[in-house]
This record gives sequence, C-alpha cells and structure tokens, in this order.
Amino acid sequence: MPEMPVLMLRTESNVDRWVNSLTAALPGVEIRLASEAVDQHRVHYAVVWNPPVDIFVGMKNLRAIFSVGAGVDHLSNDLHLPAGVPVIRMVDDELTSGMVEYVLYQVLKFHREFYRYEQFQHQCEWRVLSQTPAEQRRIGILGLGVLGQAVASQLSSMGFDVSGWSRTGKDIPAVNSFAGIDALEPFLKQTDILVCLLPLTDETRGIIDASTLGKLPRGAYVINAARGEHVVESDLLVALDQGHIKAAALDVFEEEPLPADNPLWVHPAVFITPHAAAQTGPESAALRIAEGIARVEAGAPPRNAVDMSRGY
Ligand code: NDP
Ligand code: OXD
Repeated sequence: MPEMPVLMLRTESNVDRWVNSLTAALPGVEIRLASEAVDQHRVHYAVVWNPPVDIFVGMKNLRAIFSVGAGVDHLSNDLHLPAGVPVIRMVDDELTSGMVEYVLYQVLKFHREFYRYEQFQHQCEWRVLSQTPAEQRRIGILGLGVLGQAVASQLSSMGFDVSGWSRTGKDIPAVNSFAGIDALEPFLKQTDILVCLLPLTDETRGIIDASTLGKLPRGAYVINAARGEHVVESDLLVALDQGHIKAAALDVFEEEPLPADNPLWVHPAVFITPHAAAQTGPESAALRIAEGIARVEAGAPPRNAVDMSRGY
C-alpha cells in the first residue's frame, strides 16, 4: 500500500484551526507540524508562513509550497527553495473581502473626516465639517493586483475618482491606469488619498519616502496595508509634522510588533491596526490549498504561482 503523503505546516497563529481545516479539506493526506519529527522525504506539500531558512533542506519529494499569506516576502532570499517546485500564494475571496473592508473604512474615515468628529466628541464640541462629494476625491492605489483591483472597483462603484499604478497597464472600468516608473510622479500628483497594496520587492522597498510623499498634493492622506518596509517611517513622520500629509492609516510596520516606544503609536494623525487588515482564514484557505494540490496532482499548471525571481 502506498504511503500517505505528508503536508508540512509551519504557521505562527491559529495552529489548531489550520490543522483541523487542512485535515478536513485533505482526506488521505497526513498533516504534520514543522516542529514535529518527520521523514523529510515523505513531505510532498508545505504550507508556510515566515519559515526558517533551512526548512526545505532534504525535502526531495516536495511538489508545491503554499504561502499562508498573499505576500511571499516572508520566503526570504536565503531560503533554499528547491528548484522547480512551485511557490503558490494565497488568493482567497475571504482575504480579498477583508482588504476591501479595511481600505474602505480608512478611505471613508479620511474622506468624510470622521476621525475629526471623534476628536470633537472628546472635546464635547458640536461642529459640522463641510462635505466633499466622492467624485471630487481622488484615490490612488499603488498596486493593481488581486487586492488593488478589488479595492479600486469597490471605490469606483461608490463614485470616487480612482486611479491605480502598476508595472503593466490595466483596463479596469472607471479606473485610470498608470503604469511603470515614469508614470509614478503624474499618478502621485493627482492623488488625494494614497493606498499602498504593492508586494514587497527590491523595487518597491521604501517606495513611500520623502520624495514620493512630496509629490502628493499638500493635505493628502496615506493608507498602507501592504508591508511596513514600503514606507520610510521617519520620512512619513516629518511629512505629517509639516502638515504636508494630513493623516495616515498604517496596518504594517518596519518592525512588527510595533515597538512600544515608536512615535507612530502616539502621533495624533496616525491610525494604527496590528497587521490585521486582511487575515487568511484557515477554513477558507484550506479549501484553496486543497484545490491547488488537486491541480498539481493532475499535472495542471498551478494557479497563483509566484515568479520568485520577480518577487511576487
Ligand atoms: P498581486 O501580486 O496580485 O498584485 C501586485 C500588484 O503590484 C500588481 O498590480 C503589480 O503590477 C504591482 N507591482 C509589483 N511590483 C511593481 C512595481 N515595481 N511597480 C509598479 N507596480 C508593481 O498582489 P495582491 O494584490 O494579492 O497583494 C498585494 C500585497 O498586499 C501582498 O504582497 C501583501 O504584501 C499585502 N497584503 C497585506 C495584508 C495585510 O493584512 N496587511 C493581507 C494580504 C496582503 P502588475 O499587475 O503589472 O504585475
Ligand atoms: C498576507 C498578509 O500577505 O496577511 O496575506 O500580510
């Protein structure tokens, strides 16, 4: 009788939920934690988040690596990724909906200045701010991939003036497409609320620095739900203190958890969430992984495979 294939799981949270979900979605596959002793030759699939660099050493029969998250920057360059084994990232409607909800919430908070009403309430101040119509608010989304496109479509359906910047041009109804590095400056100049949904790569690291912030119109807002290293935090703090950037919503940080003494925590114009914009739900994600495994087993090209040389 052939031996049961092994799926190795390495995640930092919700371990029981992951094990239960994968077990239910993959009958006939043995689910083992990376911390358990397992014969490396028996591992056919790996589901990982932030793995140690030597994790795949000895896994000669690995058929696919699944990233727990949409981003794959946690698969460090030092990792000995086995040649020819596809790395498949998480694309899941539940994750996408979470991101749309997060960005929509932050956009509305800034667009309607709800954060100021919260401040007024603390001062028992009855004060009405003038209201800007959605079509006069220009939203610029860095990254028009799975998440950026979903966010762009939602915001444009609500009447916002939406643009997106990506490496290659896009044809999305009611969304202005800016493509390539030469288009970054014109894109920024017409952006009132900047939303970052880029993958973290060598090209995008530090992209929101003093130069980028300076090209945004005075009084612009920044929302970063991608990776902390996209933003040069010290440059953002200067731009906030100078009033060039009115406020920022940050879900991700250069160092996570955000250290208690980081000035962003107490800045009055910064709104923080703890890398919680969109979470991978194990129950839903396990079904996506099972679909991915079925394709690999059938010899079909995997969906959502990452080009690791490009970094996303
Ligand atoms: P995708 O890979 O689907 O999209 C990436 C987009 O970025 C594409 O439009 C791509 O352009 C564009 N891009 C990449 N490099 C460049 C570049 N150098 N210049 C211009 N555009 C570029 O990713 P997702 O939308 O699925 O996810 C985006 C990121 O969101 C993830 O990598 C992850 O880091 C982050 N994330 C954060 C979460 C959170 O909770 N905070 C949750 C989930 C994801 P093109 O289309 O032309 O290739
Ligand atoms: C992801 C994340 O990349 O949660 O999915 O950050």
